[in-house]
Amino acid sequence: PTIYAITPTYSRPVQKAELTRLANTFRQVAQLHWILVEDAAARSELVSRFLARAGLPSTHLHVPTPRRYKRPGLPRATEQRNAGLAWLRQRHQHQRAQPGVLFFADDDNTYSLELFQEMRSTRKVSVWPVGLVGGRRYERPLVENGKVVGWYTGWRADRPFAIDMAGFAVSLQVILSNPKAVFKRRGSQPGMQESDFLKQITTVEELEPKASNCTKVLVWHTRTEKVNLANEPKYHLDTVKIEV
Ligand code: UGA
Ligand code: MN
Repeated sequence: PTIYAITPTYSRPVQKAELTRLANTFRQVAQLHWILVEDAAARSELVSRFLARAGLPSTHLHVPTPRRYKRPGLPRATEQRNAGLAWLRQRHQHQRAQPGVLFFADDDNTYSLELFQEMRSTRKVSVWPVGLVGGRRYERPLVENGKVVGWYTGWRADRPFAIDMAGFAVSLQVILSNPKAVFKRRGSQPGMQESDFLKQITTVEELEPKASNCTKVLVWHTRTEKVNLANEPKYHLDTVKIEV
């Protein structure tokens, strides 16, 4: 099956560095289609040029987050992930048999290559541990006799699916047979987007544990430090135009 990675991304000083790290990983994964969704009113020059040279099958989408949702404490990238879902559904509306696996790949996380081997065999919805998240070294699904029976987490253990966006994959078939499943703004608090989405397409009993019954961390919720631009000149002082 093809792995579809939906990556929301937005303009900031570290953007090209983040996308470069991601592309360097994804380029080593067979049959991966990268759906990059810019949080912007239009496709940017920077991302267009970057993708053209990335050497990866890709689709370049964009949708701006409404201004009222760009506030600390509100979930991020809801509209962008939904744009990726809509593109996938549109593309496959006439050819339902094609095997595929969908995965939400934020642009700042760190992905091992083994992760893609694990998720490729997803039948419906698969799950695995995520490192450096929830105020712990890792969060993970608790597995007994091959079934998920609970969650090891230090944060909001009341979540129906106590899992980060980087901790699950969904088969294309499930996405197509639940055409209304989307990320919701209304009533969705940060950290609840994953649960609210997964509730629409699966149950905890149905989850398929990966990464040796969820005992290996193959993806890390790394976050890039805000860059120090204290000495950046107010006007362009360099002698030539620089692509950063
Ligand atoms: C955590 C989760 O890991 C995210 O999946 C979730 O979307 C997020 O919380 C949330 O609060 O909604 P965190 O590291 O705090 O992640 O979030 P970011 O990595 O800053 O953002 C998640 C993704 O959305 C990234 O790919 C980022 O590039 C993108 N993003 C962020 C936008 O497209 N627009 C923004 O304004 C901010
Ligand atoms: Mn992040």
